[in-house]
Amino acid sequence: MLELNDLKLSYGSTQILKGVNLSVKRGDVVSIIGPSGTGKTTLLRCINYLAKPTSGSITFDQIKMDYQNADKNAIQAIRLRTAMVFQQFNVFKNMTVIENVMDPLVVVQRKSKAEARAIALEELERVGLSGKLDNYPSQLSGGQLQRTGIARALAVRPDVILFDEPTSSLDPELVGEVLKVIKDVTSSGITSLLVTHEMQFAKSISNRIVFMDQGVVAAEDTPAGIFDNPSLPRLAQFLNSERVI
Ligand SMILES: Nc1ncnc2c1ncn2[C@@H]1O[C@H](COP(=O)(O)OP(=O)(O)O)[C@@H](O)[C@H]1O
Ligand SMILES: [Mg+2]
Repeated sequence: MLELNDLKLSYGSTQILKGVNLSVKRGDVVSIIGPSGTGKTTLLRCINYLAKPTSGSITFDQIKMDYQNADKNAIQAIRLRTAMVFQQFNVFKNMTVIENVMDPLVVVQRKSKAEARAIALEELERVGLSGKLDNYPSQLSGGQLQRTGIARALAVRPDVILFDEPTSSLDPELVGEVLKVIKDVTSSGITSLLVTHEMQFAKSISNRIVFMDQGVVAAEDTPAGIFDNPSLPRLAQFLNSERVI
């Protein structure tokens, strides 16, 4: 359903993405691992055109776009079908929990407040926040903030959900509650791309692992192929540094 072909992106004279190829099928749970600074966040941001590739192309179901000839309608159509969960929680401080989740439904999808509220209640229940509807972000823990961010992403009913290191700014004791919600989401069948340093977690929820290194997909395999017997030396070295093997 989603294919990226020979994606390249430079910031100034520095090439960050050097020809990324990625193919994702409906229902896939793909974890993207790799060293810091290798372009994982940039790659996710390219999918909804928050980062603008200099060349390459994307296919999203029937939508096809060449980045050298980027088309507003195609960008908008892809954005409406994807949702992103950010490392630094995508919640607005001046809105309550439920207002945060209703916001994209009312503002982007132009749903009525009543309809948006019904969907928001459903998604907040799913992430275990039914008891915090009218709290403001300042009254929440990091884990609760991130679960609000996940409910907000789910509420738009995206075809693909993109998680960018969703637990890496959390205190260690709060990581588990967020991973539990992510596991729930990914096992519900929604196509998911997850950038993470939680290797055991990636291994347990993914059907495919992508190892990015120096701006390209350096290896791609099943979790067993990546973690149990990494043949690529750079991958073995990376996993070792993450204390996986
Ligand atoms: N908006 C930007 N402008 C300039 N350089 C950027 C920008 N965003 C990211 N970079 C650089 O691109 C490289 C890849 O960043 P990123 O995609 O965040 O890597 P990762 O998520 O794998 O850690 C880094 O060297 C980073 O400093
Ligand atoms: Mg990143």
